[in-house]
Amino acid sequence: MNMAVSPIPDDKLQNSDFLTDVLAGLSEEQKTLPCKYLYDEAGSRLFEQICELDDYYLTRTEAAIFREHITAMAQQVGPGALIVEPGAGNCEKVELLLEHLQAPSGYYPIDISPEILLAAKARITARLPNIEVTASIGDFTQADVWQGLKDITPRKRVLFFPGSTIGNFTPEHAEVLLEFFASKLSRGDGLLIGTDLVKDSIVLERAYCDSEHVTEEFNKNILARINSELNANFDLAHFAHRAFYHPLRQRVEMHLVSLKSHTVQIAGRKFEFAEGETIHTENSHKYSISGFNRLLSSAGFTPIRHWCDSEQRYAVHYAQIS
Ligand code: TRP
Repeated sequence: MNMAVSPIPDDKLQNSDFLTDVLAGLSEEQKTLPCKYLYDEAGSRLFEQICELDDYYLTRTEAAIFREHITAMAQQVGPGALIVEPGAGNCEKVELLLEHLQAPSGYYPIDISPEILLAAKARITARLPNIEVTASIGDFTQADVWQGLKDITPRKRVLFFPGSTIGNFTPEHAEVLLEFFASKLSRGDGLLIGTDLVKDSIVLERAYCDSEHVTEEFNKNILARINSELNANFDLAHFAHRAFYHPLRQRVEMHLVSLKSHTVQIAGRKFEFAEGETIHTENSHKYSISGFNRLLSSAGFTPIRHWCDSEQRYAVHYAQIS
């Protein structure tokens, strides 16, 4: 059994958001864990591996759309833009765009993982020395990480949100998030955003339940993280990874299924798991073009245009504040 317990006394954990969120999520009828906690350093590295899997078509397809249409995209963004990227991770996707922009005024990546973001900043500064990079560390849904933007006054701001990350929010939360993004922008500013399209469930399920089991490891990493950071004793072998497409909700759901009835301790509290009970860890919503345009409009953006791959698997949208 994996009984590794961290040396942090339980009472020192009381003020941690992570602990509060974990206890709240696991106390719900359908147990949940907020997906942002999947991305510690180990999780972010596993996620990079997912992006390279054959089964995971999203990253590759999006990259191909960018390569094919980068000139049109750069033209759409226009000269003198500051590119702001929430959840930038290793900042690899933005490089092609930054290279093609006319006199960009800078790049402002925001990410929860400092190690990955600071390494990325160093790489971009080395490759594109004319671009001023201001890295902001933290959760992009929180106001404080956007504060630094106040000191930068570009001709135009364009938010860059690739990777179908918007799909990891429920449509209601996605609307709130896009409204929040819109509140950081002014008239004429833009949003360049990637979304995975609705498609055959077999293709979708394979992407989230890959044959190399990397997604399984990524999903279970959150339990390992709770063990080491929150004095817990999850046994990872007592959980299985499950991912399935829910056609009515238009989303892939990721769960961890308890393989037997057992009890887990977290910071001195006990949680019961029935055999077959699940922890819901992630959603990945899929959109049609028209459905996503409706979402953009309801959040205060005007859809301008979009680009797709030839198989209509994935879309990149440009929208603006009118
Ligand atoms: N946003 C991407 C997607 O929905 C990446 C992602 C988030 C992901 N969580 C994931 C990929 C979990 C695989 C597993 O696909």
